[in-house]
Amino acid sequence: MIGSSIEHVPATASADDLAALLDRDGCVIVDRLLTEARCDQILAELDPWMSRTPTGEGEWLGFETRRTHGLVAKSPTVREELCNPLIRGTLDLVLGPWCDSYQLSASSTTSIGPGESAQEVHRDALMFPFRHPTERVAYVTTFWALAPFTAENGATRVVPGSHRWDDDRVARDDEFTQAIMDKGSVLLFTYAVHHGGGANTTADVWRHALFASFVVGWLRQEENQYLVSPPDVAQHYSEDIQRLIGYQVHRPFLGWYDLQEPLKLLDGYQETTEANVDLYAEGEDHGVLSKRVKRL
Ligand SMILES: [Fe+2]
Repeated sequence: MIGSSIEHVPATASADDLAALLDRDGCVIVDRLLTEARCDQILAELDPWMSRTPTGEGEWLGFETRRTHGLVAKSPTVREELCNPLIRGTLDLVLGPWCDSYQLSASSTTSIGPGESAQEVHRDALMFPFRHPTERVAYVTTFWALAPFTAENGATRVVPGSHRWDDDRVARDDEFTQAIMDKGSVLLFTYAVHHGGGANTTADVWRHALFASFVVGWLRQEENQYLVSPPDVAQHYSEDIQRLIGYQVHRPFLGWYDLQEPLKLLDGYQETTEANVDLYAEGEDHGVLSKRVKRL
């Protein structure tokens, strides 16, 4: 850890404080936003999946790292924390100026195991065709420490201030610091920040984290949230989560279903489905759509 350090703020900090630091440094750590018990609750809810998840099979995903995806459908506590007022208030301030509404882009656990090497350094902005530097913030990543992040177990490597760099600048080793933080703390960074998973040099310590990223409502989500939570599942979520995962229109007319708000489909999901079956049954050849509707 030799670069300039990441600013830590207490969980009592305001969304304005976090937004100001994200603007200045591109990253910030909120100390102990969750209690340890809350972290354990998330781990317990996800254990049936995490314990069956194989390690990755490539340099990018790691050979000793387990990633369990689709957490919205797997953990009620994750759904609750995706509505965390401090995190959402900060996203409102950081992403809000660039869209009418933002969405969950992806969610996963990232458990870095002993012997894992450091992930290649990158910007999450590489997914989108934007040039940098830019004032626009279209995507924000959050890493929630479900276990302590240490220099030895793979704490995320970050270059504070690199969100201001142009596309050609490459980070030197001495510019990185590590997001060392307590269990329950949350690291936030914007999409132009250079970062990568750290190496786990321990013999037997896993670095468990909850990853959740957020993207402006007019860009495609990384993880297909409609497959993670199809309508018959999503209809049981709160409206806030339904909107967050993308069941809403973004101005002027992105993401409609039958030219309507997708939320309306979820409202009367069963009725809508049955009505469609009747409607399509009156036709001759209903093709793929009618078969799909009937199967639903
Ligand atoms: Fe990344």
